[in-house]
Amino acid sequence: PRDIDGDLTEILIDQEQIRARLAEMCRSIEIDYADKDVLLVGVLKGAVMVMADLARELTLPITMDWMAVSSYGSGTSSSGVVRILKDLDTDLTGRHVLIVEDIIDSGLTLSWLLANLKSRGPASVEVCALLRKPEAATVDIDVKYVGFDIPNKFVVGYGLDYAEKYRNLRSVGILAPHVYS
Ligand code: PRP
Ligand code: MN
Ligand code: MG
Repeated sequence: PRDIDGDLTEILIDQEQIRARLAEMCRSIEIDYADKDVLLVGVLKGAVMVMADLARELTLPITMDWMAVSSYGSGTSSSGVVRILKDLDTDLTGRHVLIVEDIIDSGLTLSWLLANLKSRGPASVEVCALLRKPEAATVDIDVKYVGFDIPNKFVVGYGLDYAEKYRNLRSVGILAPHVYS
């Protein structure tokens, strides 16, 4: 079989660390939303794994919906101008929305998404992200639930891709330079 783990220089966060941290985050979310119906909004495609594990770990009654967005502009860096490829099916009026993301890199996607969702009349909008790269931030975003702050390295796995690959790795790892250079 082909060994995709061989494309990593190191495992940054393993399966068990992800599971344990998500469980901790869920306990906080359960306290904060104890008396509220929460709508989890996953951002396709990266958030699929976090959403699946977070939603199953939560003991709250939840609903889920999905958005697909795309950054305009060329290359690998996001421009901050975002286009909706798939919108929510849910009316956000009066809803408690929790955006679920795999990673906050520059923060531009989330910054745009927060403004967009807040304009739809929700009762609240908060963010839950497994990973955040503080050194890459270009905008200041208030993120209520963060799993791990990580260095500004090229990471893949657990939903995160390089050219659509590696999303199915169970851990988050650092991609070896020979793969993308
Ligand atoms: C990635 C990631 C976040 C976003 C973060 O998604 O899943 O959604 O980039 O980057 P930013 O903070 O610099 O805006 P991507 O656009 O690669 O789409 P994908 O989820 O389908 O991989
Ligand atoms: Mn994404
Ligand atoms: Mg991507």
